[in-house]
Amino acid sequence: MIRVAVLGCGRIGRMHAANIAAHPRAALSMVHDVHAPAADAVAAEHGVPTGSADDAFGPGIDAVLVATATETHADFIERAVAAGTPILCEKPIDLDPARVARCAEAIAGASVPVQIGFNRRFDPGHRAARDALRAGEIGDLQQVVITSRDPAMPPRVYYAAAGGLMRDMTIHDFDLARFMLGAEPVEIFAVAGRRTDPALMAELNDHDSAMVVMRTADGVQCHINNARCAVYGYDQRVELLGDAGMLVSGNRKPHEMRRYTAAQSEAAAPYEFFFVERYAEAFRAQLDAFFDSIETGAAVQAGFEDGHCALLLAEAAYRSLREGRMVRVEEVTQ
Ligand SMILES: NC(=O)c1ccc[n+]([C@@H]2O[C@H](COP(=O)([O-])OP(=O)(O)OC[C@H]3O[C@@H](n4cnc5c(N)ncnc54)[C@H](O)[C@@H]3O)[C@@H](O)[C@H]2O)c1
Repeated sequence: MIRVAVLGCGRIGRMHAANIAAHPRAALSMVHDVHAPAADAVAAEHGVPTGSADDAFGPGIDAVLVATATETHADFIERAVAAGTPILCEKPIDLDPARVARCAEAIAGASVPVQIGFNRRFDPGHRAARDALRAGEIGDLQQVVITSRDPAMPPRVYYAAAGGLMRDMTIHDFDLARFMLGAEPVEIFAVAGRRTDPALMAELNDHDSAMVVMRTADGVQCHINNARCAVYGYDQRVELLGDAGMLVSGNRKPHEMRRYTAAQSEAAAPYEFFFVERYAEAFRAQLDAFFDSIETGAAVQAGFEDGHCALLLAEAAYRSLREGRMVRVEEVTQ
């Protein structure tokens, strides 16, 4: 059994702790949070001890899952690598590309698995689409279209730590785009808006909707559209267009029952509410892959470099927003 410590027992840390506790190849061995009641609640739920961050990198722990606030991730990655402890760390690595570059230097050459929490790569539908693409089922890839809309605006307190729509939310889609494209975007153009809560977004200098267009060196196009508030639910779709067909990985509903009445046809249940529900299988598969890397030495499937590249795309998107022009990704270096 792989003995895992979970650092950060907030919204997503609680979910990761439950998945680890239920995993056949792992044991949830310890939880830690600077906010003691959060750690106590998760510890009580699973009958495991709380401990300090030092304990997590000490004897008796084989791997750590970091689900703390974003500003702590790079420090924990460096600490894990120095201790030789495999780490699965939530996205993003940091909000500042310079800090990520320093972290990259600090961990260069390390053989310990460092996986970043890009869970969407592990969604069965998204993964099947990517596998079918790579198997040649739709011929040459021409376009990737990613729709990612949250069901509701997060509470006001969320935005400051999140670091802006592109670094917090679109970063998942930048990673998914790279995963699907199998090539680096070289150019990017972004527009963003304040449509749902203009006053709050202006005050926080943030955005609640965005559209991004990217192009690879081979001319493959990618479009990402984001909104913080889609009243009909969490909207997660990926479309791949090739010269021999199209692949679509669509939304999920809790069940497939449909209503037909005099007033409606094909009326269905709302989509799964948010990421915990929609990506439940993906979060579990992400853990499977992490444990495979620990046990077999296989390369991680979403690594530090992926986290770095996705953040640089977010930086390039912000530059495009500021300057109102197409930006070459190589203009953003760090
Ligand atoms: N992969 C995804 O889909 C996904 C979804 C949500 C959040 N996240 C990421 O996960 C991270 C946590 O997000 P959340 O929504 O769970 O936030 P949260 O605020 O609900 O939880 C974070 C927890 O970390 C604790 N914490 C902060 N600093 C700490 C430290 N130095 N040591 C120990 N504990 C510390 C806080 O007390 C809090 O309980 C963020 O980086 C976020 O971007 C990823």
